[in-house]
This record gives sequence, C-alpha cells and structure tokens, in this order.
Amino acid sequence: MNILAIETSCDETAAAVVADGRHILSNIISSQVPLHTLYGGVVPELASRAHIERIDQVVQEALKEAGTTLEAVDAIAVTYGSGLVGALLVGVAYAKALAFGLKKPLIGVHHIEGHVAANFLAHPELEPPFLSLIVSGGHTNLAFMKDYGVFEIIGRTRDDAAGEAFDKVARAIGLGYPGGPKIENAAREGNPEAIHFPRGKVDEAPYDFTFSGMKSAVLNYLNHAEMTGETVSRADVAASFQAAAVEVLVSRAMAAAREFGQDKLVLAGGVAANGALRAALQEACDKAGVALYAPPLILCTDNAAMIGAAGYYRYLKGDLAGWDLNAVPYLELG
Ligand code: KG4
Ligand code: ZN
Repeated sequence: MNILAIETSCDETAAAVVADGRHILSNIISSQVPLHTLYGGVVPELASRAHIERIDQVVQEALKEAGTTLEAVDAIAVTYGSGLVGALLVGVAYAKALAFGLKKPLIGVHHIEGHVAANFLAHPELEPPFLSLIVSGGHTNLAFMKDYGVFEIIGRTRDDAAGEAFDKVARAIGLGYPGGPKIENAAREGNPEAIHFPRGKVDEAPYDFTFSGMKSAVLNYLNHAEMTGETVSRADVAASFQAAAVEVLVSRAMAAAREFGQDKLVLAGGVAANGALRAALQEACDKAGVALYAPPLILCTDNAAMIGAAGYYRYLKGDLAGWDLNAVPYLELG
C-alpha cells in the first residue's frame, strides 16, 4: 500500500511516498532555513507563505521520484498537529483537496507520532511496545508506545522543550538559527567541563524535565562575563550546556528503562540528530543491556516519510479523517 504523505508543521515543506509503512519510495524536503536565518528563528507567516509556494512542486517531485502518480497512490496522510497553525493549515488544506478530488482515504497524523514512527522506517524489526525518548523543538517526553499510535506519557518538560533550549542558548551566544546543529558544531571545539550548568530536577516527578534553570544559568554566566569584562569562550559554553542537557536526557531515560524493566529504548525528534546525545545514550544502553533505536539523521528532523509510516498504522486501524479535519496547533499525544 503506497501512502503519499505531507508535512508542513513548521519550517520544512515535505512530501514522501511510503510503501506499507516501512519502505521509503521518496522523501523530499524543501528546507526554509535560508529564509528564516535572516530573522534568527522561524517567522510563522513567512513559513506559511513558503509552504504555499512550494508544496505543489514538492509533492510532484515525491511522486516522480517514487515512480508513481496521484491516481496510483492508495491514501493521503498529513500532519494536522501539533505545530504552527498557519503552516499546518497549508498541508491540511492541500491533502484534503487531493483526497477529496481523487476519492482516496485521508489520514490525519500527529507530528510527534510521526517522529517516533521514523524508527519503523529505519528498523524493520522494531514493533511496539517500547519506551521512547522524544526530543524535538516543541516536545520533550518519555512515553510508552503501547501499540501503534497509542502512547502513555510518563514524563514531560515543565517549561522549555530540549530543542527550544538549544535554540535559545544558541541565540544567546550569538550562533543564531538553527540552534541545535550550531551548538553541536561549536561544542566540538569546547570543553564540556569548563562551566557547570545546573541539571534541573522536578521534585516528586522523576521522569519530568526542566530546562529553564539551565538556560537561565547560561544567560547569567554571559551577563556576569560581560559585566566583569571576561572573555567568553562560545565553544566552552556550547559544550558545557550540551553536556548538561545530554546528561539530563540520558539519566531520566535510563532511570525509566530501569524502573519499568524495559529492554528497548527508541529515540525520536530533531534533537535525536545530536551526536553527543546519541553517543551518551548508546553507551548507557550498552551498559544496561538495553537495545537503542534511533533514526538516521535525515529522518530525525522534520520529514514526510515519518508521517507516511505513522499514517499507515492509523489506516490499518481504520482511523481515517473526515472532510472536517483541521489544523490543531496544540494537539495532545495519544
Ligand atoms: O523535530 P524537529 O525538526 O521539529 C519539531 O518537531 O520541533 O526539531 C527541531 C529541533 C530544533 O529545536 C533544533 O535546534 C533541534 O531540533 N535540533 C538539534 C540538532 N538538530 C536539530 N538539537 C541538537 N543537536 C542537533 N544536532
Ligand atoms: Zn518535528
């Protein structure tokens, strides 16, 4: 079964064709990074306009690369939340029009369910149930995927998402947008032990996260350095912040795996592209006898193939969308 999948929740205009939820026939991503770089972050109105301008071409390219046509695909899947409302609306309206005109089933997919499903494309043997660490620009969760599309969240961030913290720290030290990869690059030249940033904990919620204290500590460090005229090593700040964020993510995930007797851990979301996080998690999982699953880098950040994978399992359950499908910017997971 071939699904044409569309993803426009933030700053990537993406379309893909996925066979049986597991095989990528095409995966086209038109990045808007150059457009938003000028402003130091994603400008929602510009993102929506760029999606409108690009979506038709991106879909055509995805079909061509997959060697198929609109008429031949079996269903249309689209991200309907969470994300920027104007950006989501472009994909939702486009997918609805296609499905209606072609008389094909329409499948609405949760963006984060898609991030987790990226692992189904990379690891054919992987099936739920499993524990998942979800780290993106908008979400930070520890969750059980009990069955395809069925989540039980055991930990969440109380303030910033992990990716958001990377982005804010990158801006504060003048690295700009997109923050995550820039911090990772800068950190390669820095000492992760140069500055101790706090590893925030939430009392009586062992699997919750808090990144605001860590972020404020970076800002305080920079202000203090400016007032006293000390020179700041951006590389040391980046490396020390990254080490703190990675330690928090790894320690919470491993504590949950231990407590709940899990032997599989699935990493998902844009921050899953971070090499320091992947290496530290791999080391911790090897020690604990836990099998770690992570997508290849191209499937960590936003793409439509992951939406096609998640959409397939929704389809199998008969979970189809109606013509009233709408963009839901704060869609709950599960
Ligand atoms: O999953 P994603 O593409 O979009 C959302 O669903 O939010 O994640 C984007 C987030 C951004 O905050 C970005 O800075 C972060 O993922 N990110 C990274 C890396 N690549 C992307 N964070 C740390 N290291 C990276 N290499
Ligand atoms: Zn995402």
